[in-house]
Amino acid sequence: MSGPLHTPLCDKLGIEYPIVAFTHCKDVAVAVINSGGFAVLGEALHTPDHIAADIKWIRERIGGKPFGIDLVLPSSVPEEKSVEELLAMIPAEHRAFEQKIKAKYNVPDPKVRPDIHVWGGLDQRRALNQLEVIFDERVPVFASGLGSPAFLLKRAHELGMQVWGLVGKPRQAKKQLAAGTDVIIAQGFDAAGHTGNIGTFSIVPQVVDAARGTGVPIIAAGGVTTGRHLAAALALGADGVWTGSLWLASRESDVNLPLKERLIEAETDDTVYSDCISGYTMRTTRSPWHNEWASAEAPEVLKPPLQMILSSNYIQGSLDYQRKDLMTEAAGQGIHYITEMKPARQILSDIVEEALDVFDRFANA
Ligand SMILES: Cc1cc2nc3c(=O)[nH]c(=O)nc-3n(C[C@H](O)[C@H](O)[C@H](O)COP(=O)(O)O)c2cc1C
Repeated sequence: MSGPLHTPLCDKLGIEYPIVAFTHCKDVAVAVINSGGFAVLGEALHTPDHIAADIKWIRERIGGKPFGIDLVLPSSVPEEKSVEELLAMIPAEHRAFEQKIKAKYNVPDPKVRPDIHVWGGLDQRRALNQLEVIFDERVPVFASGLGSPAFLLKRAHELGMQVWGLVGKPRQAKKQLAAGTDVIIAQGFDAAGHTGNIGTFSIVPQVVDAARGTGVPIIAAGGVTTGRHLAAALALGADGVWTGSLWLASRESDVNLPLKERLIEAETDDTVYSDCISGYTMRTTRSPWHNEWASAEAPEVLKPPLQMILSSNYIQGSLDYQRKDLMTEAAGQGIHYITEMKPARQILSDIVEEALDVFDRFANA
């Protein structure tokens, strides 16, 4: 296989297209892998048993192809705390503010325990327990979305696994390169979810430069939603793209229908960069929760993981009762380009075609 889309990342993974899907949905992951791309399944919100079952499910459907699992490894959270202990740490002022929002917008109580109660970002013990499954299963690629994976590199490499690190600053990339990380995802400000404040166009070439001569592939992330973005990422020196928002409204995606509609309707400036969801800066779609935390009377946002625990009832309640007016989800600035519910295979092939058109245009100019 050759051509402008064939990069060293394709060789490293044995894939056809240098397109990585980050997704929380197993069906999306399988569809992308079986269409010639690569997928990394976000499992930070699951128990170790659930993670093991998901890995088995994926393996049964991809016929020996590689795949990845993503967890979060934040070092700034307590070593070990129960949800009850964390809930008890939330100050009365913050509880009162949450109740005020709840009353003002008639936010329903969740029907089920919020997913966040098993999030690996709540304490270090949870994240380490999740990690053990990744080692037991010898997952081909482990990606760390938050926190440096340097401490686990030796063990992962001994088991034949690749370790990928997601960075938002060039200095984090340099540290991870020095530690021996196998692939670096340079994620810009445009991105969905936890992200730093450097734009994709600025961070990607800096990380590419830092990695020059190391043989470590660099993947661009943040706002990648079209073939033009893929072509631009390769032009910046990246070996591929890492995409999240792109798959949220896909046919296979398990995101609930009103939220898919909200994402399809959303424009770039409907996404907000704020720490009011998790205590870390994060890009999500705007909601009443964001507007209230941006108001003058809002208390100071709590440190991780307490803000996440505080916002979880609002988020879960909005999902359980399909309250589109309240819903919020991680979404990047490229959301403008997500305009319909397409099958994942078609999303992938549309991007590939558009990127190839760009290269053809340059070749024939
Ligand atoms: C709904 C959603 C949840 C996310 N959760 C995680 C996560 O748990 N771990 C992680 O490393 N990245 C997470 N991300 C960020 C993605 O890995 C990726 O970096 C980001 O989506 C790239 O920007 P884009 O959405 O503009 O493509 C999430 C993204 C989305 C859309």
